[in-house]
Amino acid sequence: MKTLVVYDSVYGNTEKIAKSIGEAIGEDVKVLSTGAVSSSDLESVDLLIAGSPTYGGRPTPGMQNFLNNIVAGSSLKGVSVAAFDTRSTANWVKIFGFASGRIAGNLKAKGGTLILTPEGFFVTDTKGPLKEGELERAASWAKEIVSNKK
Ligand SMILES: Cc1cc2nc3c(=O)[nH]c(=O)nc-3n(C[C@H](O)[C@H](O)[C@H](O)COP(=O)(O)O)c2cc1C
Repeated sequence: MKTLVVYDSVYGNTEKIAKSIGEAIGEDVKVLSTGAVSSSDLESVDLLIAGSPTYGGRPTPGMQNFLNNIVAGSSLKGVSVAAFDTRSTANWVKIFGFASGRIAGNLKAKGGTLILTPEGFFVTDTKGPLKEGELERAASWAKEIVSNKK
């Protein structure tokens, strides 16, 4: 199963989550930032996982750019997809919504099959750190994706 994990990260927390997901998947997996990914990386991928920090309830411009310029020009028919974000633990942010649902919507619009509910991982402040246990939770989320794929 060829897997691509694409992430954007400003302060490094989403990158850590993406790498934990990549490690949990283990085999035949590439973890690339939105700045490093190109259309050819999507070729013959079986599973695409995309994640971004939540900014104003949305994916960052870097993730949006990936969705608009690379995903939008590809077909994800036959590809399993999943999406995650990082987000604040503050209660008031809920009114804006979160990035992962929007990312999942974009991936599904291109024909991808959503394999697991979009997930959010918490940072304790804007620059982090991640809430305790989130790297492990990300690894479990990834393992659930793999077992759904079988
Ligand atoms: C401009 C800005 C807007 C943000 N908006 C939200 C938001 O709407 N909801 C939320 O939960 N967190 C919000 N945050 C917190 C970010 O989600 C947090 O900085 C991010 O998860 C850190 O990820 P990174 O270390 O990968 O950059 C915002 C942060 C910044 C800087």
